[in-house]
Amino acid sequence: MATQVIIPHDKEVHFSDIVNELNENLENNIKVYNKYADEYDDLARDLGFKVANHLVKLCMDNLPESMKKNLDKCRVLDVAAGTGLIVEEFRAARFTGSFDGIEGANDMCAIARKKGIYSDLRSGLVTVDNPLPFDDNTYDVVVVCTALTPGHVPKECLFDCIRVLKPKGLLLFNLSHFEVSDPDGECMKCTKEIVEKMHDDGRCECVDEFDAQMFDLDSQYHKVRKNVIHCFQKN
Ligand SMILES: C[S@@+](CC[C@H](N)C(=O)[O-])C[C@H]1O[C@@H](n2cnc3c(N)ncnc32)[C@H](O)[C@@H]1O
Repeated sequence: MATQVIIPHDKEVHFSDIVNELNENLENNIKVYNKYADEYDDLARDLGFKVANHLVKLCMDNLPESMKKNLDKCRVLDVAAGTGLIVEEFRAARFTGSFDGIEGANDMCAIARKKGIYSDLRSGLVTVDNPLPFDDNTYDVVVVCTALTPGHVPKECLFDCIRVLKPKGLLLFNLSHFEVSDPDGECMKCTKEIVEKMHDDGRCECVDEFDAQMFDLDSQYHKVRKNVIHCFQKN
């Protein structure tokens, strides 16, 4: 588990501050999310953070009929939950199921917990060596929203997400590429590879994908080259 250091700051915060401080090191990034946890929701709102909204729509569009009929019983796992923005989007879309989650930055986790929107929100890192602390075949939906960039949740962990999904359950995640952190497009190649590996894995298939806008506003700091939301279904 990475050491968590809270760095006080007293200046006005911009989204570019977060982007500029993130890098390929998970421990650094967890510190950054802890540092900006209090401002995270306001920054996301000001920029018009769109992905969670699109991801929920893609989920609702692809939810099997059997789950739609028993929405109250649907169980969602939110991986790298942040402050719980995706749960708020699910609720806005009248999704009545329940949410568990896991989040690596304690201060982000604390904010999400205060909202009282998760049944079980664990504080912990998801890495190749720390698989998800949840049982096999448990969830109807698993979401990983804006957390698969370098120095965050390793893309290989998507295979463990399949493990905790029930048969016919949906796995939704977005793969995004910021020009600032991937100037020569190397990460984009890795993205194609992981999606191909998911297909080859044989436990799930891609049922839908959506080339989504990341924010309402754009700037030189968070120019997004591409942001695709993938929806896989477990066989
Ligand atoms: C850009 S935020 C997205 C948060 C949330 N999913 C959302 O859509 O608002 C990325 C989150 O992933 C968390 N995170 C990054 N790497 C992680 C890891 N390996 N395990 C658990 N959480 C991680 C960060 O602490 C941060 O809260």
